[in-house]
Amino acid sequence: MTAVPPLTNVPLPGEGIGGQRGSAVRAMFDRIAPRYDLLNRVMTLQVDQAWRRHLLRDLAPRSGEALLDLCAGTMDVADLARRQTPGLRVIGADFSFQMLRRGVEKTGLPASQADAMALPFQAACFDLATVTFGMRNLERYEVGLTELARVLKPGGRLGVLEFFRPESAGPRLVHGLYNRLALPVLGRVLSPDPEAYRYLVESMERFASRPEFEAAAARSGFGSVCGQTLFPGVCGLVTAVRS
Ligand SMILES: C[S@@+](CC[C@H](N)C(=O)[O-])C[C@H]1O[C@@H](n2cnc3c(N)ncnc32)[C@H](O)[C@@H]1O
Repeated sequence: MTAVPPLTNVPLPGEGIGGQRGSAVRAMFDRIAPRYDLLNRVMTLQVDQAWRRHLLRDLAPRSGEALLDLCAGTMDVADLARRQTPGLRVIGADFSFQMLRRGVEKTGLPASQADAMALPFQAACFDLATVTFGMRNLERYEVGLTELARVLKPGGRLGVLEFFRPESAGPRLVHGLYNRLALPVLGRVLSPDPEAYRYLVESMERFASRPEFEAAAARSGFGSVCGQTLFPGVCGLVTAVRS
């Protein structure tokens, strides 16, 4: 893992890749950063931290290994990983300066402001990578997967938590009810930016299903791709190993 300079808000070399949508998404996360943790806990009834712990249990980081928490936001996964495994070397990366700034204040861990589709890291420098609720925000998540494959060592483990688009009728109903009834209300009551919650719903409905995502991971340099449902119609976990 290379040395990380202090966090400053910079224009990103990869910004052009995300295009206009990337810039709008980045600005939105900058705006909601102050209330992001509260919103997360309320919207998932605090289950979000249990899902992050589940991810880390499956990845089983070891002391001395290097973990990249990509689309790290306020760095909840980085924080949990480091608390659970002292000696683990952890860095958070995200393109929103305000999300990362809160993460660094909260955890004291290093962070790098970076576009997930053009990572500023050398090839094969991480043993583990996590992406929690970040992949669906990428303009092209396949490019993010290719970048993750590049920066992971052969045998490196990837864990992705996401609100995948449900495929079957029952989970689709749960997903639809939550998106149409619960989220807009929570968004209006809790968020300084109700637009953000419309975006959240749209991004979930537009994203890949878990099987589609697993197939993309297999095409992008990963083997042993394994998916689980953590909450039907809402949250899934995909783990994979860099071939
Ligand atoms: C829903 S938040 C998830 C944050 C955190 N991982 C968590 O579990 O709460 C999504 C994060 O992805 C980041 N993100 C979205 N697109 C990105 C990109 N192209 N490159 C880097 N970060 C990105 C956003 O800035 C935001 O912090």
